Amino acid sequence: MKFLVHTYGCQMNVRDSEAVEALMLAAGHEKAACEDDAEIVIVNSCTVRQKAEEKAVGKAGNLIAAKKITGMMGCAVKRLGEGIFAKLPKLDFAVGPRALGMIPKIVADGRFPRLELGDDMMSRALAAHVEGGFQAFVTILVGCDNRCSYCIVPDVRGHEYSRPAREIVAEVRALAARGVAEVCLLGQSVLRYGARNAAWDDADAPSPGGYTEAFPRLLEALASIPGLRRIRFTSAHPKGCTDELFRACREFPQVCRHMHLPVQSGSDRILADMGRRYTRAEYLAAVSRLREFDPDFAITTDVIVGYPGETEEDFEATRSLMEEAGFDNSFVFKYSPRPGTRSAAREDDVPTAEKERRDQVLLADQQSRGLRRNERLVGSVREVLAEGPSKRNKSRWSGRDSGNRIVVWDVAQGDCPPPGSPVKVRITEAHAQILVGERVE
Ligand code: 5AD
Ligand code: SF4
Repeated sequence: MKFLVHTYGCQMNVRDSEAVEALMLAAGHEKAACEDDAEIVIVNSCTVRQKAEEKAVGKAGNLIAAKKITGMMGCAVKRLGEGIFAKLPKLDFAVGPRALGMIPKIVADGRFPRLELGDDMMSRALAAHVEGGFQAFVTILVGCDNRCSYCIVPDVRGHEYSRPAREIVAEVRALAARGVAEVCLLGQSVLRYGARNAAWDDADAPSPGGYTEAFPRLLEALASIPGLRRIRFTSAHPKGCTDELFRACREFPQVCRHMHLPVQSGSDRILADMGRRYTRAEYLAAVSRLREFDPDFAITTDVIVGYPGETEEDFEATRSLMEEAGFDNSFVFKYSPRPGTRSAAREDDVPTAEKERRDQVLLADQQSRGLRRNERLVGSVREVLAEGPSKRNKSRWSGRDSGNRIVVWDVAQGDCPPPGSPVKVRITEAHAQILVGERVE
């Protein structure tokens, strides 16, 4: 059958969708060229904020109206459970994030409606990749046990589980052998790799509260794979910025100089209420260490505005932390209560208009800060992996540096580097979200 997967949410979902595509292709189905052409469409849903969930449910509703065989997968399915069929009575099937390996069988059986919430560790299903491209996501850790007050993820993605290191190494080795030059290791909190269950069969006993050497060891193992030029990872936590991690960064140039380090708030009072397990000072200390290690280390973050009880003073603390940390980029989210989470029991007392204002203020701050951060790089030569023509200007080529910064440069006819090839670019112009330069050599 001709199928498509339509994805909402984070990189974890992007990766899960790819695994489902690979499993469907392996089962003999064919990827449709466009939605009109598809007989079956699977909507991979997010539920991190109410709006995200509504979008995915709305999309599935439209597909049902268009008479497609419609399935849903992902986080909203797990949250809603049976309730998803109350919202979408004609939905054909729904599978939770840890049951995605079942999709080909459900399609083959054709017994609809069907709900599979599953809770298997699905390491095998997670190894499936679609051919093509020089970049690949690799999930190393699923689930989360942190229980931040606002977050639905532990409810929908289950307990933290680290995939066996040897499986991950074999997976990346196979990817590199077919031309993948850059992998991004995924997990809700990748630095906790191996903290819950043994990741390596020999050493690295799991340590419940802590950070083991399993993640730096994984970086080391991946760094020896021929052809692999870059290793990214996301997301991180300041407590995971250990000496061992820095040692791995120093020793292995493949490890990218970028950390996505969600801070959520700059107010100690709010951080404690959220259960983030670090203070403002501890967070900023981790940032300092990263920037001492390499002043150009790119640090990006997530922030929530309008958390219950967030005062003007708390908000200003977030603002000043962002300035002190000098984030290269940031993603701001307006607080959205998620049923069943700790903070949802509290009144959502910051008015929508005020959340919007705080969002806009932080966005404007980031624009000028991003520009300032990027201006420091004018004149320097960045190593970029070429991606393809720039979206905005087709006579330019685009790629990313180790810090995940977008770099574009003019290309002459016949001088277009193939995707994944390394190019040296001298930066001539800085913008808040993009660097412009000229190719050298
Ligand atoms: N409301 C708003 N933003 C949230 N996030 C997680 N849960 C919520 C929520 N209930 C944000 C956090 C997280 C990002 C992926 O989404 O900033 O890092
Ligand atoms: Fe990703 Fe969280 Fe959304 Fe799930 S709920 S797709 S884990 S952002």
